[in-house]
Amino acid sequence: MFRDMNNIAENELLEWIKRSIKTRTNIFSCGYQGNVYLYEDKGRRLIIKAPVGWGLGGIIRRAMLRHEHRVYSRISGVTGVPHCYGLLDGRYLVLEFIDAIPRYRARITDRDVFFKALLKLIKDLHKSGVAHTDLKKKDNLLVVEGRTPFVIDFGVAVIRKSGFAPVNRYLYNLALKFDFNAWIKLKYDGRYEDILEQDREYFNRTVIEKVSRLIKDTYLDIKKALKGKR
Ligand SMILES: Nc1ncnc2c1ncn2[C@@H]1O[C@H](COP(=O)(O)OP(=O)(O)O)[C@@H](O)[C@H]1O
Ligand SMILES: [Mg+2]
Repeated sequence: MFRDMNNIAENELLEWIKRSIKTRTNIFSCGYQGNVYLYEDKGRRLIIKAPVGWGLGGIIRRAMLRHEHRVYSRISGVTGVPHCYGLLDGRYLVLEFIDAIPRYRARITDRDVFFKALLKLIKDLHKSGVAHTDLKKKDNLLVVEGRTPFVIDFGVAVIRKSGFAPVNRYLYNLALKFDFNAWIKLKYDGRYEDILEQDREYFNRTVIEKVSRLIKDTYLDIKKALKGKR
């Protein structure tokens, strides 16, 4: 499984990650599923996602990383996702490092090219039987050189099961809509009134999204009203 890992020995990497966790070093980012570590040596760079915490939280995070590993096995070969080297010691997810800037900080030089490529990427994921579901999150979309999208973080992605699986099919279809709605939201920066005719087919808000939007709007209205009273 780890044969191809930039010539880095599996045991060497395992020692490195255990040491990094213990000494709290080499942390690249602290995320929801755990910490993300950056391995750098002689120009070789890898990302390692490691679960943190004990008890129920730890169990859930480990399960999410195992799930993410299963997702990566389904989508290997899709352009725009990091290469996955495997699940080291059954718990550390080893990924190709993408030298990019998170979308919320990046300057996109050619929006048309970028969002066309992102739409293709989303469709390619769906063709492989994977719906991401979390594309609206500001740090799950990376931008390479201002114009090329990369999608990461498949911790809550839905995998389409084969055969008779009505619950999975329902969730999967919902997740497909989430992905396209996220694409619209990102492309139009939330200005839904600007959606072009040719993109309308991708915008199909689900009940869940409508309710969460309603809660958010109500909350903002209350906040505004309270501010006015002060
Ligand atoms: N393959 C990668 N290449 C470059 N940066 C990455 C990669 N994977 C994760 N990161 C960085 O780490 C952050 C957290 O990773 P992510 O997979 O989103 O974890 P979480 O599930 O904890 O949100 C990302 O926002 C990104 O900045
Ligand atoms: Mg994330």
